[in-house]
Parts: sequence; C-alpha cells; structure tokens
Amino acid sequence: MKIAVAGTGYVGLVAGVCFAEKGYDVTCVDVEEKKVELMRKGISPIYEDGLEALMQKNNAAGTLHFTTDYTKAYKDADAIFIGVGTPEMPDGSANLSYIATVSRQIAETIEKDCLVVVKSTVPVGTNDKVEQFIKDFLVHDVKVEVASNPEFLAQGTAVRDTLHAARIIIGTESKEAEALLKKIYEPFGLPIVSVKRRSAEMIKYACNDFLALKISYMNDIANLCELVGADITDVARGMSYDERIGARFLNAGIGFGGSCFPKDTKALKFLAREHGYQLKTVEACVDVNLKQKTRLFEKAKDRMITFSGLKVAVLGLTFKAGTDDLREAPSIDNLKLLLAAGADVYAYDPEGEERARQLFPEGGLEAGTMNYTDSIEKALDGANICFVFTEWPEIKEVKPEGFKERMHTPLVYDGRNLYSPEKMKAAGVEYYSIGR
Ligand code: UDX
Repeated sequence: MKIAVAGTGYVGLVAGVCFAEKGYDVTCVDVEEKKVELMRKGISPIYEDGLEALMQKNNAAGTLHFTTDYTKAYKDADAIFIGVGTPEMPDGSANLSYIATVSRQIAETIEKDCLVVVKSTVPVGTNDKVEQFIKDFLVHDVKVEVASNPEFLAQGTAVRDTLHAARIIIGTESKEAEALLKKIYEPFGLPIVSVKRRSAEMIKYACNDFLALKISYMNDIANLCELVGADITDVARGMSYDERIGARFLNAGIGFGGSCFPKDTKALKFLAREHGYQLKTVEACVDVNLKQKTRLFEKAKDRMITFSGLKVAVLGLTFKAGTDDLREAPSIDNLKLLLAAGADVYAYDPEGEERARQLFPEGGLEAGTMNYTDSIEKALDGANICFVFTEWPEIKEVKPEGFKERMHTPLVYDGRNLYSPEKMKAAGVEYYSIGR
C-alpha cells in the first residue's frame, strides 16, 4: 500500500514516519526544498523525542521518502493524508487555505482511486467541502473519497502518542473508506472508534477544548485559593483520586499555550457563533487564560516602583517543557510587557532560544534590552527579579539557596509552581506562585 502525506509539520511528519515504521511505503510532501533535503538526511525540522531515530531507520530501509514533487507522491497513492496547518485567522476562525491548496493539487494529479484523509484540525463540515472541492477539480476519471482522522498527539511525546494512541478516531461516509482506514491502522493494534465524518471532526475540538477548560478551571480555582488561603496543589491532589475527574491536566499555572489549545478554543467559539450559538463555557475558558498569562507580571508590577534598569531573569521560554516551540507561550506576553516597561531581560531556555531570538532579537528592544544566557546561573547572577515560565527539569532543580545566593534581590515569580513555598521562605527568598 502506498501512502502519501501532505505537510511535514508536527502532524504530517510524525504520521508519515509512524506509517513507515509500520511497514508502509510512505512519501512525505513539503513545499520547502531545504527542509526536504534535511529530512532526506534523517534530520528532523522539529525537536521531537525519538523522531530522528525513526526517520533514519526508515530512510535507510527505503520505505520513507521526502519530496517537493507532489505529483510523483500523489498520482498512484492508495491513501493521501493531509497534515498541513490550519492557523488562526485574526477573527479566531481557522485558515483553510493550505488545505484548499493541497486538495486542488490532489484533484489535479491522482490517477487511481484514492482515499484522502484529513488529519489537520478543521472546523466541522470541512471534510464535506474538501471532498466536493476535489471532485470539482478532478482531472482523471477516478473515484475519490474523503475521511476524517484527527490526531491527538502532544508536542514532546508525539511519536509515543501516535504509536501508542489511546484510540484512533476515523470518520467516514462509506463502508469502503471505513474498511480501508481500519486496514491501514491494523498494524498499530489500537482501539478504533468509527463514526461519521462530522462527528470525528467534532471529537477533536471537543477533546482539546475540554482539556483547555480543565486547565482554565484549575487556574480559576487557584486564583480563588490565593484569596481564601487554600493551596491549589493540595486541592488538585485531593481531586485527582476521583476517577470521574481524572488525575491529569490539573496543574494550575501561567496559562496554556501551544499550537492547539489557544487556536482550537477560539475556533470552536467562532464555529458556534457562526451557527447562532454562544458556547459560554469555552468563551470563559479563553478569557480566563488570557488573564492568567500576565497574572504574575501584574503582581510584580504592584510590588515594584519600576522595572526600568532592573535585571530580570526569565527561566523558560517555550510553552511547555520538552519542545522548542514558542507558539502562544505565556513568556511572549510577559516579555513584551517587561521590555516595554524598560527591563533588562536575561532569558534562559534549553531548547527555545533559537526561536525566541526570531521574536525578540538580542539587544535594545522597546525601552529595555533582551539578552540570552547559556546557563540558569548566568541569568540569575545579580538579578533583581526572576520569572519562571516553563517547567524544564533543570529549572525545577534550582535550589532555594541558588536564588538567594545569586540574585541581587531574591524575588521569584513562579508560573509553574516548581518550588516549595516553605523552603523558599526558609532560604530567605520572596516567592510568589499560583494558587498557593
Ligand atoms: C495538546 C493536546 O494535549 C493534544 O492531545 C492535542 O493533539 C494538541 O494539543 P500540546 O499543545 O502539545 O498538546 O501540549 P499539552 O501538553 O497538552 O499542553 C498544552 C498547554 O497546557 C501547555 O502550555 C501546558 O503547559 C498547559 N498545561 C497542561 C497546564 O497549564 N496544566 C496542565 O495540567 C496541563
């Protein structure tokens, strides 16, 4: 069976590599020649645990190919998976232009019957449109169908999440399409939930937005904990034993970021409004998250006369640990505010520096200055304030005495609840975290 994959971002590349690992002949298509060259050499354009090893193994086995020539990849494929981006538009809706481009390319090149599978997260009803669009532009007399197959991978654990997914969701409108997708996923040995196309599209949003809601709910409760003298980590621990609630995604913090939750909450809110419905729960989740991201900055602002001329240590820039991705990271909102307020920021992140430099180049920015350090110690030395935005293990390991001894004034705002308030206090560190 020949599989083609359109797009080599987190979704497309990981899917392609995992299909090759399961024995399929896979060709991944991307528009960027340079990126394709690197992937042919087994170099991954994204930092993802275990991905390069599998790329190299399957490149060498001759089952994994990369090309910019989509004609070659699509024309005789049995199944084409679409994994291109659906970025957020200014109004919160999903931008479907990449999906449309790929759909048209597929229509104009396929020479045999083919199943087109949409993996990208798309608003409910998009698969119907994709199928119609492809049929409208078909050049050869072939049968084509579109199926929905949303993915649930998280960055940092994408390969594991794909090979050992909790379930595979397939949304089809015909027995043939359902049978083919089930066959493709057979070697994975995972539970398959087979539904209609629109339900599959909705499952993806419903899952992501539910998890986002869970986080915003915990952040809301955490803020209330601060006011009433309760400790959110204890509260979460107490909640976690109830299986109906579940033990995961109960961590209060600086708010969620990344390529999915912020975009998918806004997209569902938009979709509901388009249908004349107000999704109040999701709208509240978006509002809570927006405020949460700068909560610590606001607290620090209340404490300080000025940030101007102060050395501000920033530990962690990525939206979570285990990735080099900064999309929608709370650090971005905070850096903008700190730099505008005249702070001299010294930031450390083990993986995110390169991408951060594209957003905040080193040197004078707005009123303050942006600086990057290659160690936590250099960021902390002589600092007046420290903000913690990402839960990297090496950041977690900093001892209270480390803050006390290195900083000019040991004042720490921790957006990830990494340290013990008691131990920080005992070491003489003025410490603020979330909900404790
Ligand atoms: C998420 C979903 O987990 C995944 O299933 C979906 O396919 C894509 O979106 P990802 O964005 O990679 O994956 O990261 P995730 O680990 O879910 O974290 C998202 C954000 O929520 C991060 O900013 C993280 O720090 C935050 N988060 C997560 C919390 O603040 N508290 C938690 O308890 C969990």
